Amino acid sequence: MQNDLVIGRQQAFVTRTGLRNSTQRNETDVTTAAIRNERKDFVLTDKDFGKICRLVGERTGIVLSEAKRDMVYGRLSRRLRALGLRQFSDYLAQLESGDETELVEFTNAITTNLTAFFREPHHFEFLTRTLLPEIVRSKSRKRLRVWSAGCSSGEEPYSLAMCLRETIPADWDVKILATDLDSNMVAKGKQGIYTADRVEGLSKERLRRWVKRGRGDKADMVRMSPALREIISFKQLNLMHDWPMQGPFDFIFCRNVVIYFNKDTQRELFSRFAGMLESDSHLFIGHSESLYRVSVDFELLGQTIYRKK
Ligand SMILES: C[S@@+](CC[C@H](N)C(=O)[O-])C[C@H]1O[C@@H](n2cnc3c(N)ncnc32)[C@H](O)[C@@H]1O
Repeated sequence: MQNDLVIGRQQAFVTRTGLRNSTQRNETDVTTAAIRNERKDFVLTDKDFGKICRLVGERTGIVLSEAKRDMVYGRLSRRLRALGLRQFSDYLAQLESGDETELVEFTNAITTNLTAFFREPHHFEFLTRTLLPEIVRSKSRKRLRVWSAGCSSGEEPYSLAMCLRETIPADWDVKILATDLDSNMVAKGKQGIYTADRVEGLSKERLRRWVKRGRGDKADMVRMSPALREIISFKQLNLMHDWPMQGPFDFIFCRNVVIYFNKDTQRELFSRFAGMLESDSHLFIGHSESLYRVSVDFELLGQTIYRKK
């Protein structure tokens, strides 16, 4: 009924003015979603969508906008089907009752885990050509600690591990902490098994050294070599919660994670990252992220690479 009213108002506005401004476009999206809902298995009302957005914000820091409505529907309707529920309100009641198992499934379903080996290659070039040789030259203690925060299914920490193995002398104590909110991604990272197409962009030399190809019916799968796996520790960690580790890290990768957070959450998070780094240590963020008006603890070196002041 409420949706009918919106559609009615919307059509009247278009007919009256013939215009489509940006507010109207947003409303149109809502309306379109409402129409689509009618053809879907479940109805996602504005009220339920609002509750989902609040719960996601509280649990993950992720801000969902109206534009994500279809995505939310798609991902959560699978949970409703799996649980044999008929309405989003029943699903929300289950989450609100504190069902921890389902709350984990819920957050796993909401996170966006897009990643790749050597994604944003300039960061890895800077590492191997500049930062890692500099660390080896200047550090008296042969110890290196790296954090991949929001590591998704592990391609980022494995790319880091290749760079470290290729550049840092063998007698150094080297460890990468790889954390993510999504427990399924952490499990996948721990396994270190991927479909072969994921490593297609790697050089022949890297494939030879670091990637084991499956055989027989596993021929389309690859596994990261034990030399990489043994220096990475995969852990489930919500960046919004307390962190059990003390640091300091020599550098942190937190790329394409905060893009989903609001500015206040970003401010708090980067202040906490600063607390995990010593002066002159580096922070790498995603290509569409920036610390402008978010943190004064870091100076920009270029290409989303920052140094702690
Ligand atoms: C788009 S992926 C980025 C993966 C990798 N860093 C990269 O750039 O390729 C974003 C990751 O951030 C994780 N994430 C989102 N909110 C989080 C939170 N509150 N705590 C920890 N990880 C979170 C998601 O689960 C997801 O795997």
